[in-house]
Amino acid sequence: MIIEPRTRGFICLTSHPVGCEQNVINQIEYVKSKGKIEGAKKVLVIGASTGFGLASRISSAFGSDAATIGVFFDKPATEGRPGSPGFYNTAAFEKQAIAAGLYAKSINGDAFSNEIKEQVVNLIKEDLGQVDLVIYSLASPVRTHPVTGKRYKSVLKPIGDVFSNKTVDFHTGKVSEISINPAEGEDVENTINVMGGEDWKMWMDALQSENLLAEGATTVAYSYIGPEVTKPVYRNGTIGAAKDHLEATAFTIADDLKSIGGKAFVSVNKALVTQASSAIPVIPLYISLLYKVMKAKGIHEGCIEQIQRLYSERLFGGDLALDEKGRIRVDDWEMREDVQAEVNKLWKTATTENLSEIGDLEGYSNDFYNLFGFKVDGVDYDADVNEVVNVPSIQ
Ligand code: NAD
Ligand code: NA
Repeated sequence: MIIEPRTRGFICLTSHPVGCEQNVINQIEYVKSKGKIEGAKKVLVIGASTGFGLASRISSAFGSDAATIGVFFDKPATEGRPGSPGFYNTAAFEKQAIAAGLYAKSINGDAFSNEIKEQVVNLIKEDLGQVDLVIYSLASPVRTHPVTGKRYKSVLKPIGDVFSNKTVDFHTGKVSEISINPAEGEDVENTINVMGGEDWKMWMDALQSENLLAEGATTVAYSYIGPEVTKPVYRNGTIGAAKDHLEATAFTIADDLKSIGGKAFVSVNKALVTQASSAIPVIPLYISLLYKVMKAKGIHEGCIEQIQRLYSERLFGGDLALDEKGRIRVDDWEMREDVQAEVNKLWKTATTENLSEIGDLEGYSNDFYNLFGFKVDGVDYDADVNEVVNVPSIQ
């Protein structure tokens, strides 16, 4: 079939298998171009099909020749209906990994559940024996608690006061003023339940109790801080409370791993266009200004550049450069004083009329379409493609 983008707000209902494949190939080529990383050899990535998790899987496989197991929650294609991008990405990843002689298996299902943890535990036992790196990169709006069965929904709200600021509809370029009401009822606890660290610890407990973590194993989860303008809705909001919990959990897990000489870290990453971040109000405007400034300074990075740098310079580069709260910071270039000062200045003047000039709306929009395999260079979108693509290890 011929597949075209069909967008509804900040989601795209279709995705393109050839475009997704090309994105994965481009990421692999990038990692290979940067040379070998003396990193982990047996890697579990939870949230492995898009964004930072996919970049982590690619960096491990093609930077360190690692065997990888990837866990994600995606929709396979059916006749006449394209699958979700993570499914196509994973199909492409496995194809490339197999061609390179690398072990790669994937599990598609709810990572929050006991069933999926059990499947992964069994797969590691059968195939790898132990893992030496666990990347935790889930981004989800809901979580069903595996013990109580209760379904929690996360929200993106400020805490305390109404937050008003500018935002942009990145499809139309229209800048407008929005007001977001503060969290109420159990909003904060619910968001912590979904995006906090409880599930990460459950994964690590499950792996450690079965002796599936190698001596010196490391685990890393991803967090975000961001600028002053998004603080009320991000870091000081409900999602920030969940990130505080995630970051605190790193210390709990680190204690648990002491007996095997293991380590647990949070890495604070840069703001990037992903399915998760497009849904957060105010952030798209910030990102479009940030991209403009960082590109002009020659320091723009995408997910793959971020994770390749995280691995080569921090995790396996001998200098973790932890901040005062014990976190790895690859948002260091985003948070540079000169970058933030310029973004701030632009923020004050941004309007519908000038945004296409002072911001990188085009870059934002392009990255958004790229997430779904559209507008990828070199792909013929008029060609008939087979929408049903299988992930080799999932048949
Ligand atoms: P993403 O949406 O691209 O990736 C999320 C992954 O989680 C996908 O592989 C998806 O399949 C998987 N997933 C979601 N729910 C699942 C479930 N129930 N079971 C199994 N898999 C599930 O998101 P992302 O932007 O790469 O975010 C990953 C992490 O990085 C998050 O913790 C996020 O907060 C953090 N982060 C994001 C940004 C940003 O700007 N995008 C910046 C810094 C940190
Ligand atoms: Na991810």
